[in-house]
Amino acid sequence: MKFIKFFAVIIISSITCLPAYSQEPNKVQTKSTPATGDLKVIMNGLLDDTKLLTEGIFLEDFAQIEQAANNIANHPMIKMESKKKILATLGEEMSLFKGFDAKVHNASLEIAKSATNKDLVSVVSIYYQMIDGCFSCHNKYKNKISKLLQDNN
Ligand code: HEC
Repeated sequence: MKFIKFFAVIIISSITCLPAYSQEPNKVQTKSTPATGDLKVIMNGLLDDTKLLTEGIFLEDFAQIEQAANNIANHPMIKMESKKKILATLGEEMSLFKGFDAKVHNASLEIAKSATNKDLVSVVSIYYQMIDGCFSCHNKYKNKISKLLQDNN
């Protein structure tokens, strides 16, 4: 059994803490306790839910899409220690970093809404925006922050 997935919500000025999840492969996740997490753990949780979301799109399983999108929207916050390091390094650029997370967050909420309406065309078009949010942040910050946190993330 695969174990413990973390996600975080970004709201304009903070990376917010929300629930962690335990997950079995190909099963919709159930919530457990709120948590903060290592960024890598959070990111791997996002990857798992993005896979779940993608599978939901191709299986046209709206419940799975909705659950995966909500999981992405509600990922837990990065732990304070790492957040402080990132803040110290990025300075004013922090708002751009947070903006990418907000893009992913808002898109995933929109995807969940479209899934409720069983609107697959809308789900897929917002999915592109969400992936763009992931990739834009990686393109600009992934290596830099990975190095920054490598000893202690
Ligand atoms: C606001 C910036 C940001 C956003 C948005 C973002 N990531 Fe990341 N991601 C990072 C950073 C920074 C790292 C490097 C973490 C590290 O190495 O400690 C990373 C690393 C990763 C990794 C590699 C983890 C590992 O074990 O090396 C995966 C997978 C990942 N992200 C998936 C995603 C997915 C999927 C999304 C969108 C749903 C996403 N990320 C959105 C910043 C972001």
